[in-house]
Parts: sequence; structure tokens; C-alpha cells
Amino acid sequence: MKVGILTGGGDCPGLNGVIRGALYRGILNHDMEFVGLKFGWRGLLEMMYRPLGLDDVREILPVGGTILRTSRTNPTKTEEDARIALANFHELGLDALIAIGGEDTLGAAYRLWQMDDSFAVVGVPKTIDNDLSGTDITFGFDTAINIATEAIDRLRTTARSHNRVIVVELMGRNAGWITMEAGLAGSADIILVPEKPFDLDKDLLEPLKELHEAGREYAIVAVSEGAKIEVDEDVDGSLFFQDAERDEFGHIRLGGIGKILSNEIEERIDWESRHVVLGHLQRGGAPTAFDRVLSTRFGIAAADAVAEGKSGVMVSLRGTDVIAVDMTDEIKDIRRLSQNWLDIKDLFRK
Ligand code: F6P
Repeated sequence: MKVGILTGGGDCPGLNGVIRGALYRGILNHDMEFVGLKFGWRGLLEMMYRPLGLDDVREILPVGGTILRTSRTNPTKTEEDARIALANFHELGLDALIAIGGEDTLGAAYRLWQMDDSFAVVGVPKTIDNDLSGTDITFGFDTAINIATEAIDRLRTTARSHNRVIVVELMGRNAGWITMEAGLAGSADIILVPEKPFDLDKDLLEPLKELHEAGREYAIVAVSEGAKIEVDEDVDGSLFFQDAERDEFGHIRLGGIGKILSNEIEERIDWESRHVVLGHLQRGGAPTAFDRVLSTRFGIAAADAVAEGKSGVMVSLRGTDVIAVDMTDEIKDIRRLSQNWLDIKDLFRK
């Protein structure tokens, strides 16, 4: 079998682990041949590809990013692009494609498969945000929260030395997983996530003031880039944008809330404050052991699914098992923090 493989969307530690796992399993156990498409779906649209063998992947497990490179190109942006993508898939003589990506990449894979059922595709879910509903955990998340936790630990010692509040802004788009778990692991005093729009006074300034008056000399606030200020109980709240330009999948660049909160803290409760945006540090560098293993298992499972003739499926971690599930229902919704998580988020404010 000739199998194409691509990585789409934002990069993520562990992408190389999936590629390596799929190639080892596919070549050694299923007699497959692999073609790497470069820059995600752009590689399929513009025919940018190269053959991939074991020599290309032997050393890549600990390496962050993706050896195939990536882009946010949407191959279903227009009907014509979708037709080109499908025609090129056949022209390359591919029997199947392994598409590694988040909701956008997998959504596009699913739409192409719906248009042409001879376009055999197996998805592999990835994102540092951990917000894909089709799997219990995505690889990349563990690396991101370890980097963020270490950053919070470091910020704590400088905040303490200077009697400051440090506001750390974390990625995650519209889900608060990174902020919640890194915030808990790093013992942040205040955790603000998109799932619960917050009131500036009630949820930030008053608790901080109380802490200060009780003798605390420094504090750490962990806030999601997608956290929202409550405007009205019935309205979803307002987001902060870096700019309002949308990518090909319609996403706006979030960010800026950390600075705003830090300014409010200094002005309104007279406590010196600084802000830090962790940004892409959360996505770069070597994957943790957990992410190396999960991504390897996902790659192996993807090659197995292709060998079994499955299509329109994605691999998924369910409990401790990696299985293949239908993409149909799995890619529709993003998975967000449940009430159980929100219930414990304010426990450590004192
Ligand atoms: O989805 C992963 C993610 O890192 C989000 O947490 C963040 O909002 C976004 O990608 C940033 O995207 P870009 O790399 O295009 O700035």
C-alpha cells in the first residue's frame, strides 16, 4: 500500500512521534510505502511531497515540531480546492492518507472523505489545547502543561522577591485545560478560564485584595488567552484579540488579556504587577515521555487502521486503550472543562 502522511494546523510536541510510529509499523509489519506531504494540506494542493523511509524517522522521537512542516491551509475552503486535493491524492497513487491535526485538519479530512469515498483517510488528533472531544487526551498537552508549570514555578520566586502579582497568560484557545492544569500544578492563586466568564471585581480584584490584606506579599494569576469578562449572566462574555484577522478556518488570534488584568491590578488595588505571555514556548521543544509514548501509540494505531482498510476514522485514547473511532461525531465539538474542574478551581485562593 502507498500511504500519504501530513501534519496540519499549529504544530505540537509529539507530531514526529506519530510519523515515526506509523512508518515503523507500516513499513515493518504491513509492507507499506510512505509519502510525506509537506506543509499540511498545502502539500496535497501544490504537490509538495517526498518519499519517507525509516532512515528519515529513526532519530526524530525526541524532536519537537514536525519534520513535514505544517500550515493552516484549508483544502475545502473552495469547491475547486477540494477537487484539486482529491485529484492529487489519486494522481500520487495513494491508497490512503494519514492526516495528523486538530479539529480543522480532521474536519477537512472528513469533508473530503464525504465527497469521495475512495479517498481513504485515517485521522490522528493533535493539539496542545487538549480540547478534542474524540479522545480523552491529545499528545502535546502534557508537554505544554509541564512547560507552563515550570514557568509558573519560576515566576513565583521572582514575584515573591519583589512583592508583586504576576499574571501569566496561557494558550488553549476557547478551552481552559492548559490554564487549569498548569495553574493547579503551579499552585496559582487565581485561575481564570474561558469556560467561566469572570467578574473583574468579584473574581480577581477582591480576592487579591483580601490576600494582600491578610499579609500575602505576592500572588500568581493564571489566565487563559480565551478567558472572558462577564458582561451579563446570559451573554457569553467578551474576548480579547491580538488582531481581528481570521485564518482559513475562521479563527481569530486571541491574546492580550494578561496585560489588561495586570494594569487593572496596579491601578485598582495598588499592588505592583507584571504580566507574562507564555505563547509559543508552550508548543516548542522536546515532547515529554508521556507525549512520546502516546504519539507513538497513535502512529502505530493509525497504520493498523489503514492496513485494516478503515477510513473516515480517527485514532483515540479511551481510558488506557488506543482505538479507532468514527470521525463522524467525534470532531464536531470541542471538549471543555466540566463543572467538576470549575468546582475546584477557586479552592486555593486563600
Ligand atoms: O491550537 C493551538 C494553539 O497554540 C492555540 O492554543 C493558540 O490560540 C493558537 O494555536 C496559536 O496559533 P498560531 O500559532 O497561529 O499563533
